[in-house]
Amino acid sequence: MAERLLRGRLLSFRRRPEGPEDAGALDYEADGGLLLRGGRIAAAGDFAAVRSAAPEAEVIDHRPHLILPGFVDPHIHFPQLQVVASWGAELLDWLERYTFPAEAAFADPAHARAMAGPFLDRLVEHGTTTAAVYCSAHAASAEALFQEAARRDMRLVAGKVMMDRNCPEGVRDTAQAAYDDSAALIARWHGRGRLGYAISPRFSVTSSAEQLAAAGALAAEHPGCHRQTHIAENHAEIAAVARLFPEARDYLDTYDRAGLLGPQMLFGHCLHLSAREVARIAESESRAVFCPTSNLFLGSGLFDRQGLQGAGVTTAIATDIGGGTSWSMLDTLAEGYKALALRGERLHPFEAFHWATRGNAEAMGLADRIGRLAPDYEADLVVLDARATPAMRLRMDRAETLAEELFVLQVMGGRDAVAATYVAGRPQDTARG
Ligand code: GUN
Ligand code: ZN
Repeated sequence: MAERLLRGRLLSFRRRPEGPEDAGALDYEADGGLLLRGGRIAAAGDFAAVRSAAPEAEVIDHRPHLILPGFVDPHIHFPQLQVVASWGAELLDWLERYTFPAEAAFADPAHARAMAGPFLDRLVEHGTTTAAVYCSAHAASAEALFQEAARRDMRLVAGKVMMDRNCPEGVRDTAQAAYDDSAALIARWHGRGRLGYAISPRFSVTSSAEQLAAAGALAAEHPGCHRQTHIAENHAEIAAVARLFPEARDYLDTYDRAGLLGPQMLFGHCLHLSAREVARIAESESRAVFCPTSNLFLGSGLFDRQGLQGAGVTTAIATDIGGGTSWSMLDTLAEGYKALALRGERLHPFEAFHWATRGNAEAMGLADRIGRLAPDYEADLVVLDARATPAMRLRMDRAETLAEELFVLQVMGGRDAVAATYVAGRPQDTARG
């Protein structure tokens, strides 16, 4: 079996660092070796030791770069790859003016197939190796994405959005059709290779109570599937949900009544939740996903990481392309730093890099497979160069510690810093094109 032995500085996390001094949370190897075999990590440690156990392996020398687990993006929209940078709207208006028309084009399977490769190319060129993806309402969009991800052997979670009201006909389904299409996609794709299905009612503005109940039925029938939706992103959205569901005690309750809460649920945004909603999200072990570039771009609000985590909620951080403005998890961490700074918090780079790798993997229930550089973990990796540009080199000339280097990567790195990405042990083409 083909073996590759990567050489470089290895960095991954055993657990969430509790602060700048918590070096015990890190696994760091200054001259590291990572042996890849059959799509997995066969050995990790000091290069000389790993080398002596695998004298035949092809060596790929990434020194002096850092090798980390590939980034995990737990909230991104496939049919919005042409929506990024749409001007002048807040959430509901942005959906009507830009997003629904772009998503309507995915009714055409040929368009969906043509977009699937470019979508996954953008992920890997930014160092992202796993994502939780919303497709359009058309089964063909999920079908195209799953096919392309299977071809590349990526670990990906995706689902067709369910949306049966308050949207144009070209992106609308029905409660029954959404149930049937989702069930057929689950049967075909969930658990195949490294793929998983996410039951994806878009949000309570565009799903009737009947459709949310259908999503809940799917969740009960397929407890191994993920679930994803949006909540409490924008005040007009929250007011619309209150009008549409007068019987519900609050926004979260519209999902709770349908049986959608639980550790499999990724709640996008979570910006304007009541104390009751936060407590119930914590109690149900549902996840809260912070999408900083989107929240700032659409003027939606500021995520309360400290409040949510303090209440016991597991949080994640994501791009939310195309409400989000960058495909890069490094840029997302940079924007996250700034958004949290407006709440008086300072996101330390150890915590940031944990969040975008193992933390997001934990939020997605995948931390036993991805997010660490250790034997038996899947060989999804990103190689980062903190001296990728002249401006970064100038800054790095005054950086002395690993934490400083990571913060330069976080704030300045973006796509430039991604020197290589590996999916299932195979180097991907990340060349600029
Ligand atoms: N709420 C419902 N749909 C969407 C979407 O596509 N993007 C964002 N940012 N919020 C949403
Ligand atoms: Zn979203």
